Amino acid sequence: MRKQIAAANWKMNLTLQQGELLLDNILKNIAPIQKEQEVIFAVPFPYLPMALEKTKGHANVYIAAQNLSDKEAGAYTGEVSALMLRSLGVSHVLVGHSERREYFLEKDEILKAKVDIALAHELTVIFCCGEPLSIREKGKHNEFVQAQVEAALFHLTAKQLEHVVIAYEPIWAIGTGKTATAAQAQEIQAFIRQVIAGKYDAAVSSKISILYGGSVNAATAPELFAESDIDGGLVGGASLKADDFAAIVKALK
Ligand code: PGA
Repeated sequence: MRKQIAAANWKMNLTLQQGELLLDNILKNIAPIQKEQEVIFAVPFPYLPMALEKTKGHANVYIAAQNLSDKEAGAYTGEVSALMLRSLGVSHVLVGHSERREYFLEKDEILKAKVDIALAHELTVIFCCGEPLSIREKGKHNEFVQAQVEAALFHLTAKQLEHVVIAYEPIWAIGTGKTATAAQAQEIQAFIRQVIAGKYDAAVSSKISILYGGSVNAATAPELFAESDIDGGLVGGASLKADDFAAIVKALK
């Protein structure tokens, strides 16, 4: 079975002390994570060492950065490189979150470069895609998401793609309390898998974990995760509450 993943995205929330407390409470409340499952915490850059330290020895629990530079190294004030993340022991990185696309104007070209540099440094990429409401209302969401996936990922070899997790996150469902229905999410995620099978093959696409993100909470996770093409969730708001996130982890297949 492909990996089933509960990924927390703290975004720009919490103080260091609050983050420590949250991690302690979550780690206390989750059972040992099964072999085919992963729990990932995407925390703000300054909290990476703390999170790595706290999760040390917890099997199948990983720490992710929320972003990385598309450049190797050099005079790029304020940026954080793939090499820096690797040197800390970080294993995963988010690329292409809709907030990065919208507020920091990250376009396909830069996302493609970020995917490449992350993979070159052996970071697993959690690649986010998803349509705005206007596109969903026009019924063009499949084409929109297909174009995002093609632009940033389809130059990769099948071997490289094994180190990519896809997170489908409809923008209209992020932080709005408006979750896509399990049927809506399943439909487009099955479509994404089919697009990957078309470019690579069915064996490759069957191995790619595709997460759903957008107002996932303890109440909606079981129904979403029960769908055959939903391999877990990327969770923002509900990942900031220990009980909720622990319940989401428990809902993994
Ligand atoms: P949300 O955020 O769960 O708060 O909607 C999800 C995300 O943006 O990854």
